[in-house]
Amino acid sequence: MKILVTGGTGYIGSHTCVELINRGYEVVIFDNLYNSKEEVLSRIEKITGTRPLFYKADLRDTESMRPVFEDHKFDAVIHFAGLKAVGESVEKPLMYYENNISGTIKLCKFMNEYGCKRIIFSSSATVYGDPAQIPITEECPKGTCTNPYGWTKSMLEQVLTDIQHADPEWSVVLLRYFNPIGAHESGLLGESPNGIPNNLMPYIMKVAVGELPELGVFGNDYDTPDGTGVRDYIHVVDLARGHVNAVEKVTTTNEVNVYNLGTGNGYSVLDIVKTFEEVNNIRIPYQIKPRRAGDIATCYADPAKAKKELDWEAEYDLKRMCEDSWRFASQNF
Ligand code: NAD
Ligand code: UD1
Repeated sequence: MKILVTGGTGYIGSHTCVELINRGYEVVIFDNLYNSKEEVLSRIEKITGTRPLFYKADLRDTESMRPVFEDHKFDAVIHFAGLKAVGESVEKPLMYYENNISGTIKLCKFMNEYGCKRIIFSSSATVYGDPAQIPITEECPKGTCTNPYGWTKSMLEQVLTDIQHADPEWSVVLLRYFNPIGAHESGLLGESPNGIPNNLMPYIMKVAVGELPELGVFGNDYDTPDGTGVRDYIHVVDLARGHVNAVEKVTTTNEVNVYNLGTGNGYSVLDIVKTFEEVNNIRIPYQIKPRRAGDIATCYADPAKAKKELDWEAEYDLKRMCEDSWRFASQNF
């Protein structure tokens, strides 16, 4: 089976390409390299022995996309390409709506035109807003997002659902990721954010390599066991494996299916700091700061639906996530 992976040189996309190749799928990537490097292709090749075919193409640019669809007949598309910086989306909403929403609509038009109507979409737990229940099941109603990035995910879920309802030949899998961290065990693939990171683990990495002096912990007065925010951190390789299982789903059904991809465990900011310090023997100085606008106290998944219907569950624990994150950062930052 041939799978088109948009955004396939990015953090989650590159790990997913490795897992797809390992399971015998043929992979074609397109990416505009806005937030990733072509060198990732050589690294995928080093790990798997196969270099995926690559197109430098932009979701918003018909001319660069056309050859991708002209040259191949895809069995399914895994759609990672998008902008994801929450803070930037607040400052530049048009950029986010244009890239993520207009770009995805263009992609779907191509898929219609070339008769590939199966898509797996990267959504986020952010669509639940301040969740109505913990742990969060897929039945939990979608909530109010606190930033344009989150709204692009929520709106695109609706767009894809409407497309499938209008044309039952479409098959849509919406994957709501919790907090992906970690890296490939080889140290060859991982996340290398530009500038000062927003997310917790990339920030800890920058402190660990000495680029930033200390971590700011955003609030210690939440209603959680130690007062700091609780999240469901999931190893990126587990997340990638979830996509491979979702390929089977999307190619054998004609409906919209929604799955949480999380571990079901909640860890606080200080749990992460402590585990990182213990596992890697590196001290992470931190200071308690005011709460960050838009943050919620607690967010973790009920992953039972993905286990039942995708035969998937996360395998790696927090120690492994911290070890693998550091291996990548120490070799690549
Ligand atoms: P990433 O930035 O590493 O990867 C996204 C890739 O898309 C990049 O390589 C970028 O160059 C490419 N891209 C962006 N706009 C493009 C365009 N117009 N045309 C072609 N390529 C384009 O991000 P990631 O962490 O791998 O995330 C992948 C997807 O998962 C994104 O849609 C993101 O919003 C979603 N997601 C990520 C997280 C997370 O914590 N990382 C959580 C939930 C959802
Ligand atoms: C954030 C985004 C969410 C996005 C997700 C993955 C916000 C409000 N939410 O989720 O939309 O889908 O990233 O990209 O930005 N923390 C610190 N210090 C830091 C950084 C984070 O204490 O320097 C804390 C946060 O307050 C939170 C936890 O660490 O409690 C995790 O934060 P982060 O990694 O940014 O993820 P989310 O906020 O869950």
